[in-house]
Order: sequence, then structure tokens, then C-alpha cells
Amino acid sequence: MQDILNELEERRAVARLGGGERRIEAQHKRGKLTARERIELLLDEGSFEEFDMFVEHRCSEFGMGETKIPGDGVVTGWGTVNGRTVYLFAKDFTVFGGSLSETHAKKITKIQDMALQNRAPCIGLFDAGGARIQEGVAALGGYGEVFLRNVLASGVIPQISVIMGPCAGGDVYSPAMTDFIFMVKDTSYMFVTGPDVVKTVTNETVSAEELGGASVHTTKSSIADNAYDNDVEALLQMRRFIDFLPSSNLAPVPELPSFDDGERVVASLDTIIPANPNQPYDMKELIGKVVDEGDFFEIQAAFARNIVIGFGRMEGRTVGFTANQPMVLAGVLDSDASRKAARFVRFCDCFSIPLVTFVDVPGFLPGTAQEYGGLIKHGAKLLFAFAEATVPKVTVITRKAYGGAYDVMSSKHIRGDVNYAWPSAEIAVMGPKGAAEILYRSELADAGKIEQRIKDYEDRFANPFVAAERGYIDEVIVPRNTRRRISRALNMLRNKRTENPWKKHDNIPL
Ligand code: HXC
Repeated sequence: MQDILNELEERRAVARLGGGERRIEAQHKRGKLTARERIELLLDEGSFEEFDMFVEHRCSEFGMGETKIPGDGVVTGWGTVNGRTVYLFAKDFTVFGGSLSETHAKKITKIQDMALQNRAPCIGLFDAGGARIQEGVAALGGYGEVFLRNVLASGVIPQISVIMGPCAGGDVYSPAMTDFIFMVKDTSYMFVTGPDVVKTVTNETVSAEELGGASVHTTKSSIADNAYDNDVEALLQMRRFIDFLPSSNLAPVPELPSFDDGERVVASLDTIIPANPNQPYDMKELIGKVVDEGDFFEIQAAFARNIVIGFGRMEGRTVGFTANQPMVLAGVLDSDASRKAARFVRFCDCFSIPLVTFVDVPGFLPGTAQEYGGLIKHGAKLLFAFAEATVPKVTVITRKAYGGAYDVMSSKHIRGDVNYAWPSAEIAVMGPKGAAEILYRSELADAGKIEQRIKDYEDRFANPFVAAERGYIDEVIVPRNTRRRISRALNMLRNKRTENPWKKHDNIPL
């Protein structure tokens, strides 16, 4: 028996070495951890249960018959994060560059199937060069199987991708179909085809960072949701992130012990709005004052900064926050902001995460650049997302809520459940100046007269009371009580049940 046990240990030791000492060293030299080191950091200590450690590829082309490495370039299994089960696969770049073979794909699909069947999040740690070139169509078929499962699991279990090395081909398409993508700065890249292919096809000379680094995908393409300084930071942030997520679309939102009183009054909110309506204030500061213990996990912090999205907790339970940011472009809604927030709202709705929306929006951004870029369709995405959402929706208008943007931002008319306004709210079709200049165009030459018209419009509409008189606003609240009012509203809405009419699926303007 001892011999057999020794053999098992030897086989395991070989598998754990992956592509060997030399490649592990190269991985470390690039500032990257190995697949197994990453798993150790992500999961609770000692919780990892590995599957398929001895799986090898079956390819014999291009001399592959002589190069078989147990595990075949991906480490798979399950474990726990702060006590909650997650399934995961981690690409091993030291084995054929983490590339995907037919058997490698089978290891991943086994994990995807188990995650779906057992309703727990599925996490992929990516560091891989796409389809194994030596395998040809067998590898492509393998990716197809992975993609299909990404799609079938979408909206049922959270799927998270962490990009931790150079990733190409299928290793960017599979993440693209998951709910969130996080990257590591300077060591991770995402592109469909790398710089060499780009040079051949388009004659463009571009570095990997310029083509698909974290700096590109967090600010320009919005493919990535956030980026972190190194592997350790990224994985620790993932542990924090997973705590916010329910395990599936049928599971309740996680409830953590909260040491922050839901009734807490925040006196400083009474003075956060500047006297001058054109002066900005930081919406993130406002969110920080309202959420439990100031703990806010922002998503896409570097993209479309005129809208802020992210997760926080109210009395220990996860909430998805969406808020216009007056500090950037006065909080205007443009195509990027609309797309960013729409996807977030839909994620929250999929997973029964209540939505809290803070509104301070001067309207949609005018101009040819926006119109040519499809503002109508992109803005419609956000409107659609808020309207179809059946989770509890609590909205607070802090200042401006002008034009179509008023309707879009989780208004009463699209099934906002509890809609509050601060006394500083201004709710109208447009700002007083624009309104007066259209209504009284003939008086434009007379500065005194038009000033008076602007003032009249301001007096009539630059307040929350016209909307409150109609019941579009449930209550005008004192800013310092915002946390208390939201906490109470969310408690009142805990058993909310609303269903949309039966349909195969909707047809959101993509
Ligand atoms: C087999 C691969 C591989 C691949 C890398 N390797 N990619 N082996 N198939 N796809 C191997 C290398 O031969 C090398 O082996 C080791 O992995 C490390 O690769 P390097 O090139 O030395 O590393 P680096 O310079 O860091 O470059 C990483 C890289 C590059 C950017 C990922 O390797 C690359 O461009 N690979 C090809 C990417 C690609 O075009 N894939 C096919 C995509 S098509 P040794 O033995 O030297 O350590 C696809 C279809 C899916 O995925 C369908 C999508 C819809």
C-alpha cells in the first residue's frame, strides 16, 4: 500500500509542477503567480478540492504525442470564499501557454456544469493564449462548448473572469460572456488577435499594452470592470467582491453582520449640495456616507465617470447603487454612461439585488458625436433596464432631474417603488435658462425680460414640489435622514413580488 501511496504522491508532485521549474520561474519573473498560487490566495485556506489533476491531451500532431503534461494547462475544482462555495478554473500559462485543448476544455466544462447544477458562482482565472494551435478544430470545438455554457449560466449563477496574463482568442471571448471582468495592471492583456497579427493584417505597430492592456480596457473599451496593481491585490479584491454576490438567481442576497445602524443620521448630507446649482459635489462622498461602514465596491470606476455604479450594503444586505456624478460632465447621461449603468442594473435584477439610485442629472448630452454614436439606442438601454427590473427600486433625487433623464433614472413611472427627493431637487423638462429661451424666443434681445422669464421658470419648477403634488415623488425628505429612509424602504420592500408578462426573452435595444 505504501508503494501505491508514494506513487500517487509522486504523480501529484509532477502535476503540481505544471510546465516545470524553468517556466514557473519565468512566470514569477514577469511578476505573475502560478495558477496554484493564485487559487491558494483566492480561496479559504485548505478549502480547495481539485479535479482532473491527471488529465492529459490526446493530440499527436506536431510532436505533441511526446509532450504530455498532467493537468493539461488548467487547474480546476471548487472551494470556499469566506465560507461560501465557488467553482473555479485557473489557466496554467506554464503548460502550453495555458492554451485550450479538447481535454482542457472538458475540464472547464465539467466545472461549469457543476457550478450551474449546484448553483454557485463560477470563477475563471485567465492567463492563456487561446485555442491550442496544434489541435486545430478540436480546440475550437472545445471553446464552443465553453461558450455555450457561459451563455446558459448567464443570469443563473454569477460568472467572474480575472485576466492575469496575456489572453487571446477564446480566452477573451469566454470572459466577454461572463458578468464581470477584472484585470491586473501591466501584466495582463486582452485581444482577439495579438500585436504580431495586427501588424501583418493592418500594418499597425502597437504594443500589447496599447492594444489590450488594463489601461485600455478600463478606460476606452469598457471591457474590463476594474484593474488592480498585481495578482495578490486582484485576488484579495475578488474575495471582497464575491461577498457581495448571491450564489444564484434563486438564492437570497448575502446578509453579513452589520455594525452600522440603519437609522444612522448623517448631518453632513444637509450641506453637501452647494448653494450654486452649477457647482458640483462628489456623489461618491454621498454614497460613502449612506452605505454600511462606507464600504462601496465601485464597478468601472475609470470609465464613463459621469455615472457611478457599484455594490454596497444597507443593514448588511447587498444593494446595487447607480448615481449620476456631478463632478464629471455635470453628471450628464451620454452613450457610455447609459451602457455602463444599463448592464449593471440588469445584473442586479438577474440576481435579486435591490437598486438604489441617486439622481442629479442635467439631461442627455447633446451633439453630433453623441447622436452619430447612437445615443438614442444607448440611452434606451438604461431606460429599458430600469423599466424591466422587478427588484426593489428606491430612488432619491438630490438635485437636477431634467428631461428624459428624469424618466430614465428609475422614476416612479417606470416602477420605482419608493421615490424620494431632497428639498434641493429640480424636476422639469429642462433647466430654467434653456426653457425660457425656447418659450420666449422673441424676448431674447431684451436681457431684463428674459432674466425675469428664467426666474419665473425657476420659481415654478426648480423644486421637488410640482412632482410631489402629483405623487411622482413619494416624499420630500431631509438629506440627513437619507440612510434611514432608504433602509426603511428596503425593509418594507423585502417581500416585493412583481412579474413581467411571460416572454421567451425581451428584445433590449442592443
Ligand atoms: C499552443 C501556445 C499557444 C497556443 C502560446 N503557446 N499560445 N501553444 N497554442 N495558442 C505556447 C508558446 O508556444 C510557448 O511555449 C508558451 O505557450 C508561452 O508563449 P510565448 O509566446 O513564449 O509567451 P508570450 O511572449 O508571453 O506571448 C503570449 C501570447 C502569445 C500573446 C499569448 O503566445 C500568442 O500570441 N499566442 C497565440 C495566440 C493566438 O493567436 N491563439 C489562437 C487564438 S484563436 P514554450 O514551449 O516556448 O513555453 C482562438 C479561437 C477561439 O482562440 C474562438 C474565438 C471566437
